[in-house]
Amino acid sequence: MDSDGASIMTKATAKANPNIALVKYWGKRDEELILPLAGSLSLTLDILPTTTTVSLQPGAEHDTFRLNGNDKTDTSASRVTRFLDLVREIAGSNEHAHVESTNDAPTGAGLASSASGFAALALAASKAYGLDLDAKDLSRLARRGSGSASRSIIPNIAVWREGDDESSFAESVEAPELRMAIVTLDSGQKAVSSREAMRRTRLTSPFHEAWITSTRASLEEMIAVCASGDIERIGQITESHALRMHAVIQSTEPPIRYLSGRSIDVFDAVKGLRDSGAYAYATADAGPNVAVLSTPQDIDAVARSLSNFGDVRVAAPGLGARLVEENA
Ligand code: PMV
Repeated sequence: MDSDGASIMTKATAKANPNIALVKYWGKRDEELILPLAGSLSLTLDILPTTTTVSLQPGAEHDTFRLNGNDKTDTSASRVTRFLDLVREIAGSNEHAHVESTNDAPTGAGLASSASGFAALALAASKAYGLDLDAKDLSRLARRGSGSASRSIIPNIAVWREGDDESSFAESVEAPELRMAIVTLDSGQKAVSSREAMRRTRLTSPFHEAWITSTRASLEEMIAVCASGDIERIGQITESHALRMHAVIQSTEPPIRYLSGRSIDVFDAVKGLRDSGAYAYATADAGPNVAVLSTPQDIDAVARSLSNFGDVRVAAPGLGARLVEENA
């Protein structure tokens, strides 16, 4: 703050966690507004949060972005600026900001760092620019940074509905208590971004229409079995829906393949765990890492038996985006 108090620096810090979809979002109806072609449903985790501080910089000529202690000037910085432009438009401000972000998950490795990142940014930036958004409007805002971020605003199980700009946001869904084991096989950056791969799927896959139609049906069934507490069916839909997503991704021209041989080995091991009586169902996002859905009773045994494949982290249902510290 200036000594005369003429320009007040406004700053807010928020934390948000990643989420893993049990019914996946894979396809946009509108690339600008980030409206999905079908709804999706996810579990927000209590691990690997992103913490983001947004401080307004009166008089600055542009935004600045630091991620994990490194100044960024690449596409991640332009995505942050585009997002802040949106917040400035809503807030009626033209002040630039400094964004400082720490990511506990490896960035860009299919571990949903964009979800926790844009959820934390939506909350921190909206507060720093003086907005007081409710969960619905925060989810709509986070959606504009990354579709899956709309769900990280919400704790535990969230459904993100297809719709228009007003009606496409995430909200809580009643569900039994679940756990997840994240098996990290490769923490490197993915070769094709999910944005590009989704577009290629829509434009070139001969199976695209069936993928969207079946996703809508899977989502409606998933919501019903979450409400009835049918955990076996929750697991079955989760695993088959993930395999369908990877099938449609592999059917693009030119083809994209995110799963590695070792990912498939983990899917096989998860099937073996099920055959021996454990509750375990596998899913994977746009990368080779595998997330395994389980129950509070079985999660430790499941995590232990998968530990020979790579680093395994156990997650319980996590909180939605929350403010850590705010001062004006
Ligand atoms: O939100 P994006 O653009 O990073 O896309 C996420 C896509 C998946 O993680 C593969 C699926 C999902 O629903 O999270």
